Amino acid sequence: MGAGRKGCPPLNGWEWPSWRVARKVDGMAKITYIEHDGTKHDVDVRPGMTVMEGARDNGIPGIDADCGGACACSTCHVYIDPAWVDRLPARDPMEEDMLDFAYEPDPVRSRLTCQIKVTEELDGLQVQMPERQI
Ligand code: FES
Repeated sequence: MGAGRKGCPPLNGWEWPSWRVARKVDGMAKITYIEHDGTKHDVDVRPGMTVMEGARDNGIPGIDADCGGACACSTCHVYIDPAWVDRLPARDPMEEDMLDFAYEPDPVRSRLTCQIKVTEELDGLQVQMPERQI
């Protein structure tokens, strides 16, 4: 076993859990995904991932993401909770164009989840999936 590890102080931002393996301590953002029928899924998503990846990695139904996040399919479409619309970065032109192919897009609330990068500031974000994707 690693001689000398026991006495090493943890690095900044890291901690030594009881089993002596370094683990990064960082904030997660809790995102609520709401299915079209109202079923809610609260998921902790790691900053740096996209809202789509948070759904995909947690098996949330209603976000298909057929293109894998390349902004080329619009099957990751959601409606953003009105309280959050202005707190997200604006859509870029490519997302705007692709939203034209989404099922019943809303001019204000619709977003493609593969284009929304999760940050700790998005903790509490709520998104609702449409009745269907395309
Ligand atoms: S996953 Fe295809 S556009 Fe978002």
